[in-house]
Amino acid sequence: MADANSFGIAGLLGWPVAHSRSPVIHNHWLQKYGIPGRYLLFGVPPERLEPAVRGLSALGLRGCNVTTPHKQAIFPLLDRVDALARTIGAVNTVVVEKDGSLTGFNNDGNGFIQSLRDADPKWSPGSGPILVLGAGGASRAVVASLAAQGAKEIRVTNRTRDKAQQIADAVGSVVTVVPWEQRTDALDGIAMLANATSLGMTGKGALDMPLDRLPRHALVGDLIYIPPETALLAAARARGNTTVNGLGLLLNQARPAFNAWFGVMPEITPELLQAIQATF
Ligand code: ATR
Repeated sequence: MADANSFGIAGLLGWPVAHSRSPVIHNHWLQKYGIPGRYLLFGVPPERLEPAVRGLSALGLRGCNVTTPHKQAIFPLLDRVDALARTIGAVNTVVVEKDGSLTGFNNDGNGFIQSLRDADPKWSPGSGPILVLGAGGASRAVVASLAAQGAKEIRVTNRTRDKAQQIADAVGSVVTVVPWEQRTDALDGIAMLANATSLGMTGKGALDMPLDRLPRHALVGDLIYIPPETALLAAARARGNTTVNGLGLLLNQARPAFNAWFGVMPEITPELLQAIQATF
């Protein structure tokens, strides 16, 4: 981190980045905690990633978030990547250390888990079997983070089975691969269901997931936040299950990043939620 008295700058490296809500979150916190600084969007095409990352320290940035298409490509440009981010195979946060070196983290999965814990404090990743739908980058972050936080059985199901198998290979024996056609059978006895497919998102296809076999006490999370309540979450809520959408991930992944860059662990307040909701 640069001199604590200086104007602190952090930002998002991605291509494109214009849609991001991260500036709303971080700039809200900078203002709330009276920290002089700014969170900016940096549209960086793939061929400019290397000079952009090399420039982080030289420009005095505290760090950055990383999004599509740079989450994997940034690995060789960093001095170290923490173990969870390595298992996930993607970095979403970079911290510029005091000596100018760069450390990569991935807070996405932990952010999602924190939002589930907030919704149901009795639940933890070790509470019982978990079913995760999908095996893209978001799924991999969630599955690896659940395993790191003590999950004992994570069932992963995906249309393309190979991708679910790759997650199982990377994360270990707590992961079992369930054929996509058998996804409703895999609801039996679970304590948490997470949708990490893009199905149910505005403009995408519908998720076909009857919930008859879902235990009543199971938590249901969806990584999607547009719309704020997917058909899956609406159906789960109607049967009495506690539900969580993807906004919790967005907000909770930002907290440890802000803390690493600016030295304050920020709170998710009703004012922040209102500021985010105003962007929809
Ligand atoms: P992200 O990085 O957000 O995880 P992604 O890597 O594109 O995005 O992953 C999208 C997920 O949604 C994948 O699990 C994908 O399944 P495949 O691996 O088989 O592509 C899933 N998905 C997208 N459209 C789907 C569909 N029509 N039916 C079933 N799964 C679908």
